[in-house]
Amino acid sequence: MAKHLLKLMDLTGEEINSLLNLADQLKYEQKHGIPHHRLEGKTLGMIFQKSSTRTRVSFEVGMYQLGGQALFLSSRDLQIGRGEPVQDTARVLSRFLDGIMIRTFAQQEVEDLARFGSIPVINGLTDFCHPCQVLADLMTIREHKGALGSLKMCYIGDGNNMANSLIVGGLKTGMAVSVATPKAYQPDPSVLEFAKAYPSFTLTEDIYEAARDADVLLTDVWASMGQEDEAQARRAVFEGYQINEELMKVAKKDAMVQHCLPAHRGEEITEETFEKHADEIFDEAENRLHAQKAVLVQLMG
Ligand code: CP
Ligand code: NVA
Repeated sequence: MAKHLLKLMDLTGEEINSLLNLADQLKYEQKHGIPHHRLEGKTLGMIFQKSSTRTRVSFEVGMYQLGGQALFLSSRDLQIGRGEPVQDTARVLSRFLDGIMIRTFAQQEVEDLARFGSIPVINGLTDFCHPCQVLADLMTIREHKGALGSLKMCYIGDGNNMANSLIVGGLKTGMAVSVATPKAYQPDPSVLEFAKAYPSFTLTEDIYEAARDADVLLTDVWASMGQEDEAQARRAVFEGYQINEELMKVAKKDAMVQHCLPAHRGEEITEETFEKHADEIFDEAENRLHAQKAVLVQLMG
């Protein structure tokens, strides 16, 4: 596997599956109290330029459970927040740490950190993608439904970082993927270019067409971090791009629902549908821990 986790596009389907297998094994070990200190003495630096609950806590707890430690590095406190170039930050941090997790705006910044540093870099969300989240999603879907290859995934809403990673992760693991977004909010052109090669990929504006016979439905907020100023305008555009009980009727009877969280009830998902599928959604949140431990062991072990 590549030295970093910058985006799912860089991994093969086999590499994704083997990370999921390792995640299952680490989850088993944790649940059964089997020690798994595979990163004894290692330190992960975690740079956050945006807020986080799940990513921060799961990486920090994950490192602890693996016998290592994690440092929370807010960009408000780092010199990077005052303009120290990423080339220098990468080289300095490489002298102290064994790995870096970064959550930021531009994908290029993550790619540059990997290019100029000499330690593994993990993307903890950019405007372009959210690979760690989608590994946890795939792990959860597999736990609930078995082999991914026979399943249809449907994503409803903004063609954002989650949409981009779900399309790539879903298609690479053999799922059929259907996406419904408003015309002006489609996924990234590079992702659509990638998806074009898969006959099982569909993109539409019609949420009912996308959700038909789906095994799993996913959605995400209408306005992502950094788009707070657009929230009002987006509410008008995305009206109707919602997972609700009406939509669930056209999916498979036993269809599951996933949401990366945080959720805005009454916008991209109704309270009723969210609560009906809360067990699946919070399994997904928990699996951030296990999936990321697999990434950490793979890259830093
Ligand atoms: N889903 C997710 O990444 O959550 P946080 O923003 O809380 O890390
Ligand atoms: N699309 C959302 C995901 C949050 C986990 C955002 O970027 O804010």
